[in-house]
Amino acid sequence: MDRRCSQLSMPILVTCGLPYANGPCHLGHLRTYVPADIFVRGLRKMGREVLFVCGSDAHGTPIVVNAEAQGMTPKALVTKYHQHFDEIFQGMEVDFDFFGDTDGPVSHNRTREVVEALMENGYVYPREIDLAYCSECERFLPDRYVEGECPYCGKPARGDECDLGCGRHLEPGEIKNAICKVCAGKAEYRKQTHYFFRLSGFQNFLLEYLQTLGGTASARNYAIEWVRSELKDWCITRNMTWGVRFPGNDDLVVYVWVDAPIGYIAFTEEWCTRSGRDWEDYWKKPSQIIHFIGGDIVYHHCIFWPAMLEGAGYTLPSAVVASGMLKIDDKKFSKSRGNVIWVKDDYLDQRLHPDLLRYYLASYTAHNKEVNFAWNIFADKVNSELVGAFGNFLNRALTFSVKNFEGEVPEGKIDADVLARIEKTLAEVTSSLEEYEFKKAADSVMALADYGNTYFQSHEPWKLIRSNKEEAGSVLKSCLQIAKAMIILMEPVMPAKMQEAWRQLGMPGEVKERAFSDAIAPLASGQSLGTPEILFDRLEEKFVKDLESIFRERIKEAESREREKTDKKEEVEKEEVKKEEAKKEEAKRGEAKEGEAKEGEAKKEEISFEDFQSMDIRIGEIKSAEAIKGSNKLLKLKVDIGGEVRQVVAGIAQSYSMDDLVGTQVVVLVNLQPAKLFGIESQAMLLAADVAGRAVLLRPREAVETGTKVR
Ligand code: MF3
Ligand code: ZN
Repeated sequence: MDRRCSQLSMPILVTCGLPYANGPCHLGHLRTYVPADIFVRGLRKMGREVLFVCGSDAHGTPIVVNAEAQGMTPKALVTKYHQHFDEIFQGMEVDFDFFGDTDGPVSHNRTREVVEALMENGYVYPREIDLAYCSECERFLPDRYVEGECPYCGKPARGDECDLGCGRHLEPGEIKNAICKVCAGKAEYRKQTHYFFRLSGFQNFLLEYLQTLGGTASARNYAIEWVRSELKDWCITRNMTWGVRFPGNDDLVVYVWVDAPIGYIAFTEEWCTRSGRDWEDYWKKPSQIIHFIGGDIVYHHCIFWPAMLEGAGYTLPSAVVASGMLKIDDKKFSKSRGNVIWVKDDYLDQRLHPDLLRYYLASYTAHNKEVNFAWNIFADKVNSELVGAFGNFLNRALTFSVKNFEGEVPEGKIDADVLARIEKTLAEVTSSLEEYEFKKAADSVMALADYGNTYFQSHEPWKLIRSNKEEAGSVLKSCLQIAKAMIILMEPVMPAKMQEAWRQLGMPGEVKERAFSDAIAPLASGQSLGTPEILFDRLEEKFVKDLESIFRERIKEAESREREKTDKKEEVEKEEVKKEEAKKEEAKRGEAKEGEAKEGEAKKEEISFEDFQSMDIRIGEIKSAEAIKGSNKLLKLKVDIGGEVRQVVAGIAQSYSMDDLVGTQVVVLVNLQPAKLFGIESQAMLLAADVAGRAVLLRPREAVETGTKVR
């Protein structure tokens, strides 16, 4: 959070990226919303007044396409998922002051107002462009209505994004070889006038602005790189009826990425109207606007959005906090592959307490890093950290006091060391939250719990109580003070569980309302304690196994669905490859004499360092090698990649004998999508030099530990 935030008088607005009202909430969503909620609760505990808003993103082609597929109107689909998200957020204790949707009248009006302001200020211009048009369906094909080839990298792409290739955002008209998604017919290109936002004119402004932007450094740096390299004007109109009508042209709506963030303003207005406040205090005057978003929409929030606000005369965001992505079982989250955890079906409906998941998401790793979720890790964390350390300490301190001191906070003096330790934790928690370091905050409170357990253990109150009851009283009073501090400091992460603990400690009212600084306010002797109960239950192995099997079943189902699809696709592709090859052969024959273009030496597209880093390459060791029936090229290998053994099918049978291979260290690309070869699944790939078709394995120059990363 930037320095200006210390000015208490400045209004603070925190927002979360708006979920598309287009499907159920999954764990990937919570990666943004839970930390934002923790942040807001934390700020309030520091005495700051904060407004926290979010809402459903109602527009865009995916919603229309999906509604059509489900035989619903877009409005009905949006309403359905809007209610779903609202329920899930309540269930997960993500406590927005306002949760709106971008199809409401206030959103429509504010969007029109902003677009008109941009037009008046000269930032919007018309241009005639060639757009994909389906003569069969008699319509233009915006965004997801069209598929084709990326003009930059040639990979198959969707109308608005090269999702399988270079990842670029595609502007209307850019896609090549367009195919209509509705009828699968070949589209033609027709001219039509659309409206463009002059983003290119904001380069200097953005470079300066981004220097001062708070939030996660990775978001800021990514944006700065983009602005330095290229800023293209954005087409901000689409041929649709679902959306906000473009002022002055009833045939067009504004692009969803225009009205979606304007939802942040509209929701502020709606809340202000209800609460008798002035929305302009947030959006027209100096304020603190902090956006929590997923790491995949940094471009929109750090570049497009501030330029729009600047161009229309609104207050600029002061921080953009981007979360790292979520992996499940160490694999990329994917709905189509079944690699997904649904928050309702898989978690809340299993009667799992929201706070356990909140704790997991906050404490797994730093906010800008990738979180990996797996049920066994979840269970371990709950059992060792929440049950074993945190809950155990609260229960010991409380039970012992209730039993030996008539259910009251004992007489005695709180240990000065204990108070100093609490004060240290308090400072750590506050500064960590201000720096968006949620893991550090949770870890600090956990460390206080460990300290408490050690303190209790080393002071042996169960002995003292017989030899020196007064001293035993002081020890217990100190422990209860630690407990009180833990509860207050952990409340942002686990609100409901901490309220329950607060009650057990005999404290009145809501711990949510207590300031962090209350953690050091001494407990009063003689105050009655509540009834100690187990705060966190152990997650039993059987239960965890059941959760795992639900998850595995889903993956299997998705796999067989995908297999059916790919089998069909493969047939078609094979045919096409054959045709292609025949063509190539012909061409080769034609230019036989020149014959200089050596195959495989064609220059490849440049990739970014991130692209390279997305490959998980490790040193593995071959544990076993087996022939594969029917293939004289392939071997089935078991390769240890450091604590995990993968089955790999490799085309090295003609280069090495099986005995020779066992024990050899090799270089393994670990996160390659699994593939089946001769009916056998290959879960990784060995890297090898291609010496005229013969594979020569790469290996480290000296023996290293298996699992060592290759960079
Ligand atoms: N719905 C978008 C997504 O899920 C996020 C919109 S955020 C907003 O990627 F800023 F545009 F509102
Ligand atoms: Zn069509």
